[in-house]
Amino acid sequence: MREESLRRRAAKVLPPPERKAEYVREMFTQIAPAYDRINRLMTFGLDRQWRRWTVLHANLRPGDRALDVATGTGDIALELARRVGPVGTVIGTDFSDGMLRLARSKARAAGLEDVVRFQWADALDLPFGDGEFDAATVGFAGRNVTDLHRFFSEMRRVVRPGGRVVHLEISRPTQPVLSALFRLYFYNVIPALEGRLAGARSAYTYLPNSLTLFPSVEDLAKIMREAGLVDVQYYPLTFGTVTIHVGVAP
Ligand SMILES: C[S@@+](CC[C@H](N)C(=O)[O-])C[C@H]1O[C@@H](n2cnc3c(N)ncnc32)[C@H](O)[C@@H]1O
Repeated sequence: MREESLRRRAAKVLPPPERKAEYVREMFTQIAPAYDRINRLMTFGLDRQWRRWTVLHANLRPGDRALDVATGTGDIALELARRVGPVGTVIGTDFSDGMLRLARSKARAAGLEDVVRFQWADALDLPFGDGEFDAATVGFAGRNVTDLHRFFSEMRRVVRPGGRVVHLEISRPTQPVLSALFRLYFYNVIPALEGRLAGARSAYTYLPNSLTLFPSVEDLAKIMREAGLVDVQYYPLTFGTVTIHVGVAP
């Protein structure tokens, strides 16, 4: 399908900006119990490695304090907790209570509840002071927010000067054959397969369409710079189907 018709379809399927936050919260609360299983299936298990790399890019040391924004079921936050160790601190935030409940029970099961804490927070209005964290991470949530400038500004604000903001997200491969395969998988196979498994087809119709309207990797880097981050770099993974962006708080 051509870019323009994908964009038209996305504009029809996605909620209008004023309803997006509520729509996203309800959708994630509904799919929370199936979320981890679907992630593993959809990514052939690669998501774990992508999250590990995200955490490595945060450049944390034992004893550091890290924030994982829009943490969902907490996989990145738990990985951060392993990195900062027992004397470090990790806070995972999300605006879906259903996701946060699962994240807390995973922290208990992993014996990490003394290192990582999960709390409700809107990513666009973080309830933390300036420079409170050594790094902030976020995975697969940029497509869901209504204001990317504010999203990155908030993460930049709560990270100390010199600390990193690390963003992991699905991206569109540019090589023509890969791009065609990716579209087939992402726009046709995922909604059909995962909709059945999650019992919520709309969530996985939302997923590809939200990527259609998401900025390119270059444009996202530009938005991060406009939000005040410096030394912005990005690293495509798995043939460019996901990309890690890293920026430094000045
Ligand atoms: C696709 S999940 C990603 C979860 C997790 N970061 C991961 O790597 O699996 C997106 C998460 O972002 C959360 N989210 C979306 N917009 C948000 C916002 N404005 N504030 C807080 N959480 C938000 C959703 O509730 C959901 O848990």
